[in-house]
Amino acid sequence: MTGRGMKAGGADVRDVQARDENMPSKNGGASTVNDAARVVVLIGFMGSGKSSIARRLAWRLKCRALDLDKRLAEQCGASIAQLFAERGEAAFRAAESAALHDTLRHAARDGGVISTGGGIVKSAANREALRVAAQQGALVVYLRARPATLTERIRRQPGTRPLIDGEAILDMAQTQARVEALLSERAALYEECAGAVVDTDRLSLHEVVETILRRLRERDGSRRRDRQGDEIWDGKTQTA
Ligand code: S3P
Repeated sequence: MTGRGMKAGGADVRDVQARDENMPSKNGGASTVNDAARVVVLIGFMGSGKSSIARRLAWRLKCRALDLDKRLAEQCGASIAQLFAERGEAAFRAAESAALHDTLRHAARDGGVISTGGGIVKSAANREALRVAAQQGALVVYLRARPATLTERIRRQPGTRPLIDGEAILDMAQTQARVEALLSERAALYEECAGAVVDTDRLSLHEVVETILRRLRERDGSRRRDRQGDEIWDGKTQTA
């Protein structure tokens, strides 16, 4: 592996933080839906569309898309597959946790849509960090999909998911068997962490984004109702 190497919770993570602090805030303090620093965290299995949806959603919300895997890869100068092969899963998980904590802290200040790796919910500490973030106002969205859908999507990017096809070339049935096995370990964890669940199998990327935006508006509307005792929907008073 080339680059600076992976040090969980260490200098590499602080490097990312320092770079981010120097970046101009793209949201300029404003959002299309409300004026608070908005944080959305996307969780879900590999192939559930987290990164693409995060980019589109961030664009709609006029905030930053923060992709944990991409950050780790940039930070370490290696692909996720290389990190797994050369450092092992445990080292990857430790760096992933550090990146999650760091990114949540920054997003709480500046807003952002965070896309996580599919294994983020494996760690109890990560689940707790998501729970605290949700308590502080982040919307954690589980992008749910059936094994067949995930398998089809994962097979479009061979060699990029070390836990699925890292060691061997798998056929469709073998890939789906791995997806099912891993998903059965994780499905309950995704649900436990989620403040909203979106079933993505039949939805286009655009529809998933619109569904999340609707969910945010509903939530903001009920918060404003709580605060003001009025019926308010996305800034407009509802009469119905
Ligand atoms: C993993 C998912 C991957 C990546 C790594 C491990 C997992 O991210 O973090 O290969 O354990 O599910 P994506 O969910 O973005 O593919």
